[in-house]
Amino acid sequence: MKLKFITTNEGKFSEFNDALSGADVNLERLNMSYPEIQTESLEGVIAFGMQWLDKKIHGPYVIDDSGLFISELNGFPGVYSAFAFRALGNAGILRLMGGMRNRKAIFRTVIGLSINGHHSTLDGECEGTITATERGESGFGFDPIFRPSDSTMTFAEMNIGEKNALSHRGAALRKLKNTLLSSPLR
Ligand code: IMP
Repeated sequence: MKLKFITTNEGKFSEFNDALSGADVNLERLNMSYPEIQTESLEGVIAFGMQWLDKKIHGPYVIDDSGLFISELNGFPGVYSAFAFRALGNAGILRLMGGMRNRKAIFRTVIGLSINGHHSTLDGECEGTITATERGESGFGFDPIFRPSDSTMTFAEMNIGEKNALSHRGAALRKLKNTLLSSPLR
């Protein structure tokens, strides 16, 4: 089946492509943005985005909204991750956390799938820690400062397959793959 992924983020597109291999899906990237409302939850952003996109996009599509929730910062940047990354970057987050001993954080992804007006959401999360310094060159966003609990490497030190095996997005994508494979709508 043909599936459009509406995203301005090339890194997310590569991760989707890797994880959906074998799902009999022809994934096409639509490099456009949609309104991301200010709300407390990633699910809220996804629901509003799909309502808006349903009027513009023909055929099945997916979107992805993700956030980094840092314990000691009461969940910041969370739903404001895109803004925080633009404003502070990884160096700014590390400065903000200077001297903090509790470096626990959770990455979360919510994927919205729309097929013939039917909406579903698939989520995933990954627990880990914020490193003391930036490490690695791969990936995007906060990857150089996030080390999942089950690894000695940051996401930016992994290849796409390794990141997908452990990451929030990888977990959500495994659910998406199962949903697509079992969907009567395909
Ligand atoms: P978005 O709103 O889902 O596009 O992402 C919010 C912010 O989190 C952006 O700055 C992204 O670069 C960053 N981000 C999203 N997913 C990941 C990831 O898997 N690794 C690192 N940063 C991410």
